[in-house]
Amino acid sequence: MKRTEILGKKFEELIPSSEIDARIRNLASEINRDYAGREVIFIGILNGAFLFAADLFRNITLKARITFVKLASYEGTSTTGTVKELIGWNEDIKGADVIVVEDIVDTGTTLERIVDELKIRKVASVRIATLLFKPDAYKKVIDVDYVGFRIPNDYVIGFGLDYEGYARNLPSIYKMIE
Ligand code: IMP
Repeated sequence: MKRTEILGKKFEELIPSSEIDARIRNLASEINRDYAGREVIFIGILNGAFLFAADLFRNITLKARITFVKLASYEGTSTTGTVKELIGWNEDIKGADVIVVEDIVDTGTTLERIVDELKIRKVASVRIATLLFKPDAYKKVIDVDYVGFRIPNDYVIGFGLDYEGYARNLPSIYKMIE
């Protein structure tokens, strides 16, 4: 079992890179089939989704564009606490068929925030593609349409996911073991 250590925390391999690569190609084929003849805009959520989005998009054969947005935290008033704002919109997405590309869906709070924003921007349709999904942590009702891997409720790193900003460059997914 491959192990690694980041900032004093121990992690062991959960999903090897070969499995991730194969699964992403399968997801892309599913999307190519489901959207045949249509144009799609992929919206990657930074920072975590950059590797998954790149590998998925590379395997898309549809007429497609990709853009990225980022959730930025800023301090709200004393009653609202920390507010998260989605920044970086630079495409007109009104009337578009959109696929949101996430690294991981955990509680679903981030996803809900993004889907609300897309509804305000009057997209024609929205589906969700995520590399990882933690069903035991998920608290929302939005369907997660394309899931790479369902994983237990552990903290994971690698393939874009970080621990304190590090480990995004690991080609496999690792879970924290202590
Ligand atoms: P949610 O809003 O609770 O669904 O969390 C989504 C965001 O939290 C993801 O986009 C990640 O940035 C981060 N996150 C959640 N779980 C993990 C994890 O196990 N490892 C690294 N980041 C995580």
